[in-house]
Amino acid sequence: MRIAMFSTKTYDVTYFDRANATHGHELTYFEPRLLEATAALAAGYPAVCAFVNDHLDAPVLAKLQAGGTRLIALRSAGFNHVDLEAADALGLTVARVPAYSPHAVAEHALAMILSLNRKLARANNRVREGNFSLEGLLGFDLHGKTVGIVGTGKIGRIFAGIVKGFGCRVLAYDPFPHPEVEAISTYVPLATLLAESDVVSLHCPLTPETYHLIDADAVERMKPGAMLVNTSRGALVDTLAAIEGLKSGRIGHLGLDVYEEEENLFFQDLSDRVIQDDVFSRLLTFPNVLVTGHQAFFTAEAVTAIAETTLANATAFETGEGTLHRVTSDQIA
Ligand code: NAI
Repeated sequence: MRIAMFSTKTYDVTYFDRANATHGHELTYFEPRLLEATAALAAGYPAVCAFVNDHLDAPVLAKLQAGGTRLIALRSAGFNHVDLEAADALGLTVARVPAYSPHAVAEHALAMILSLNRKLARANNRVREGNFSLEGLLGFDLHGKTVGIVGTGKIGRIFAGIVKGFGCRVLAYDPFPHPEVEAISTYVPLATLLAESDVVSLHCPLTPETYHLIDADAVERMKPGAMLVNTSRGALVDTLAAIEGLKSGRIGHLGLDVYEEEENLFFQDLSDRVIQDDVFSRLLTFPNVLVTGHQAFFTAEAVTAIAETTLANATAFETGEGTLHRVTSDQIA
């Protein structure tokens, strides 16, 4: 199948070419993001492969469909960036990678927690400048602290096991409790989780219900000085409310792998440009904020699995054999 691959980087080419040895699709790699202005690149391609910051709104989907596209193969688990109702109405099939390595994301969340707590970025900079002072580097034992997990799906479950292994008390909030997590944690209402947790880690999807789940009210409910970590989707957190929380000290540490306005920043080298996003720039002024550019998924194991499942979705769509991980506006496979 001819597949137009958008937002591609060198690592996409490496891992997709490798996985494609067993699938035999015809892959064309486009560096630009998929937007209304670039959708024409996909004309004549029955399949389009898109990543998390590509635009898959109704006008883009209509252009793709008019150009002959029938399959949108997302190389991500999240699908909040796709107008599924428009896709359904246009007769476009949307597929995703439901799980590739939940360990990659859970481990990155832990890396952010340890790094923020023990101030590794600051310490590293200091030592490189010959400054071995420990002033300002005081951390806390994670052992014995309360960690609150919002969303105990595939990633949240693994994260629960990891922090349990550190000797933490684990609280969880999810409308659908999972027995594995019930065995090692206590499910509580969100307000209780926020009030009692020393560390809050977000692992739920972005939906209309979870948009700005952490808003000014939620920040006020947090335990004073608590750490907030978001490796899920940027818009779960109202960034302005988080900044106010950092200024007041209500939020003691903030770790973000995702940011609500990330699409014009992340996955690019902007080091010789002026950042135009003042809210993002403000975030970077806090010594107790750690930002990574949506890299939680980025392990060799995860990227291998993403390429394999994406191409398997295309094969299943083309041949009718094998599993097609389809998402529609009313059903997720
Ligand atoms: P999943 O679908 O296995 O689990 C999501 C869980 O969130 C489910 O148990 C669901 O019941 C729960 N949930 C839904 N609404 C909720 C609410 N209002 N409050 C609390 N919990 C709620 O998803 P998975 O694989 O664990 O991924 C979680 C999220 O992580 C994805 O939606 C995606 O946005 C994000 N992600 C981020 C990556 C990164 O590189 N930073 C990579 C992969 C996923």
